[in-house]
Amino acid sequence: MSVISVMLAAVQVAIFAACASAAAPPGCDSACQDAYNQGRATDASFWVHPNVTLDPFYATPDNFSDYAVGDLVKWEDIAADAVATNWWVPSGLSLSRFFYVSEDIDESPLPATGYAIIPYQNPLGPDKPFRLAVWAHGTAGFTPQCAPSNNKGLQYNFQAPFALAQQGYVVIAPDYAGQGSTIPQGFMYNAGILHAADVSLAVEAARKNFQSSITHEWVVVGHSEGGLTAWRTAQREADPRKSAGGLIGAVAIAPAMEVMSLVPWVLERANGGPLHEVFLPYMLRSIGRLFPSIDLTKYVTERVLGLVDLSYGGCLNAAVPLLYNLNANDMYLNNANFPSAPEVRDWTAKYHGEGAHALGGPLLVMHGETDFILPHDHIERIFDKQCEAFPDSEAQYLLLPGLDHDGAVQASHSNYFPWIADRFDGKAVNRGCTKTTVTVATDRFATVEQVWTSGGQMLVQ
Ligand SMILES: *[C@@H]1O[C@H](CO)[C@@H](O)[C@H](O)[C@H]1NC(C)=O
Ligand SMILES: *[C@@H]1O[C@H](CO)[C@@H](O)[C@H](O)[C@H]1NC(C)=O
Repeated sequence: MSVISVMLAAVQVAIFAACASAAAPPGCDSACQDAYNQGRATDASFWVHPNVTLDPFYATPDNFSDYAVGDLVKWEDIAADAVATNWWVPSGLSLSRFFYVSEDIDESPLPATGYAIIPYQNPLGPDKPFRLAVWAHGTAGFTPQCAPSNNKGLQYNFQAPFALAQQGYVVIAPDYAGQGSTIPQGFMYNAGILHAADVSLAVEAARKNFQSSITHEWVVVGHSEGGLTAWRTAQREADPRKSAGGLIGAVAIAPAMEVMSLVPWVLERANGGPLHEVFLPYMLRSIGRLFPSIDLTKYVTERVLGLVDLSYGGCLNAAVPLLYNLNANDMYLNNANFPSAPEVRDWTAKYHGEGAHALGGPLLVMHGETDFILPHDHIERIFDKQCEAFPDSEAQYLLLPGLDHDGAVQASHSNYFPWIADRFDGKAVNRGCTKTTVTVATDRFATVEQVWTSGGQMLVQ
């Protein structure tokens, strides 16, 4: 999500209007092409490798079938000169990439990749294991190319992975199977159940490299698609058959939960105008690949299907200008009735996840009061249902005043850094659910999520 706001500011007025009026579905007229090219150039400026399918690290080895779910297949420590040039890793931090075996919905092996960051030193002492934090990323894109490990700033940079490492955690971050790795069914966008498997199995695989130099205990923190992932990871870890063991806390920031039920809200908010929503078409495209019985042309306009396919040449910044300003009739058929399609319902139950489930560790949910993508009362309702069904859940909900979907990521450091430190320090969490609104220090705080980039070292500062 991190670069959306900049894109919007830069190109909204000039280009979205032109793109929205583009004719000839499923094509894209020259203004629409310009918007796409500009967005793709932004995406490409962050890529470590311009084509991950040509980077041998991301290639699935011929003997992949000899590995078992949770196995580590490749571990690559990045050399000091490359971490600050091929990537924009700040001073003191070390980067590794790893290739491991995640699992599909039927528990068959799936190739997956991720990265690891090691802090400069261990604040607990050189002979102690590093505490382990897993970072679960939000929407990065929809193809292998858009893997956060292939992003110079690891997509969320100081918003999360660098910031967690600076607190002294070893950070493990799955790309999610189908980003980085190539899988036959394509990246299964917002499949929370599977992203949770990517998290737990990344922990199992990373333990094979780090062994006793990391704690058995771990926390997972995620935003948006990754907030969904963190919540589903807490659920997965309650299952003794699947659990990696050691989960002591899950932090779900602006989690993208039960998104199909938000379609009526999206339509109502738009009131006939632009939907300002680009995520649903990618879930539908993935559903179309997972459930071939669905005929997407009965639900989605040919124009949108064409624009989605075009946008696969880039990542999220290429997708946003193509779709952001389209209205409901531009995008969907039959008053956007796709949530009632049997395949969409099946996907929600099986892949995305819905309903309340037991938790395998304490859960902290944080949501911005002005979240434009996922309204806070929607998330609060899901939290309430969790607490009704499982009154013993160790769960906290924090409402973050004045913050939008992306602004919540960095602003919430002061809430969740102490929370995860408390889990590692062994402080008990009270059974039962609590809901609190954060008391802000001033009403003058910035609400904009700043985009961090690096062009190399400063010679004078
Ligand atoms: C990446 O490389 C593959 C293999 O050569 C090729 O098929 C594909 O078109 C390339 N993708 C891009 C975006 O250049
Ligand atoms: C797969 O092949 C590589 C390279 O030959 C080898 O090092 C590795 O041990 C093999 N893995 C398995 C599980 O057999």
